[in-house]
Amino acid sequence: MSELLTQLKESVKYIQSVCHIQPKAGIVLGSGLGNLATEIETELFIDYRDIPHFPVSTVEGHSGKLIFGKLNGVDVLAMAGRFHFYEGYSPEQVSYPIRIMKLLGIETLFLSNAAGAVNPDYNVGDLVIINDHISFFTPNPLIGKNISELGVRFPDMSEPYDKNIIATAERIGKEQNIDLRHGVYIAVTGPTFETHAEYRLIKTIGGDLVGMSTVQEAIVAVHAGMKVFAISVVTDLGIRDNDNKITHEEVLEAANAAEPKLTKLFKELVASV
Ligand code: HPA
Repeated sequence: MSELLTQLKESVKYIQSVCHIQPKAGIVLGSGLGNLATEIETELFIDYRDIPHFPVSTVEGHSGKLIFGKLNGVDVLAMAGRFHFYEGYSPEQVSYPIRIMKLLGIETLFLSNAAGAVNPDYNVGDLVIINDHISFFTPNPLIGKNISELGVRFPDMSEPYDKNIIATAERIGKEQNIDLRHGVYIAVTGPTFETHAEYRLIKTIGGDLVGMSTVQEAIVAVHAGMKVFAISVVTDLGIRDNDNKITHEEVLEAANAAEPKLTKLFKELVASV
């Protein structure tokens, strides 16, 4: 057995020794979106640091724990605090918790993030459903020996984001009066925000959004046969010609302001899984 699989199994064994809940969905909360967790009727927290082999989160605006509980009556496992490549974690570590979710029996993954927009039709605070991505600027998390117990060597990526869940999200958006847009997310390593020329490049090659997370997690989930839904909150516009200074504070503030809309959507979405 590969060393990674052995570690994953040890992590899962620990989690199952302290938690007897079988979550139906996994949720990853992006920067500034952690408030969604307060809507979960928590049954159990597990600190990342207590789980063997689990990476530990460092970035500002994130805490580090797995939250087991009910969201809108549905058993979920939410990650408060994700791991980013720019923090120095390997792509394997970034995506480690997703594999844990899979091994815990979770089949559906909901990802959220704060993202910069290069689509001129978007505004700060918009929710954008990710219907495709470009992963070429960040290392693929499946590089290395394939773990065949988890998935195939050459996974198909023609539909990384589940069309049925996207259709459900659209229906919920209409019913609940939540405006939803669609777009292509381009993953970059960070931690620098982009230069003018980089934002222009991202737009030119077909991106609507740019961010420093999500795609490595989505790839690992698709590899393992999970259904994935991902959504961005637009926190800044990368296409302002003159004043284009972007700060982490501004990103967190915009994400916080849009978070109630996201929570409303996720509450309904998990109930449809
Ligand atoms: N670029 C990259 N990542 C981001 C941005 C951005 O403009 N905003 C939030 N995350």
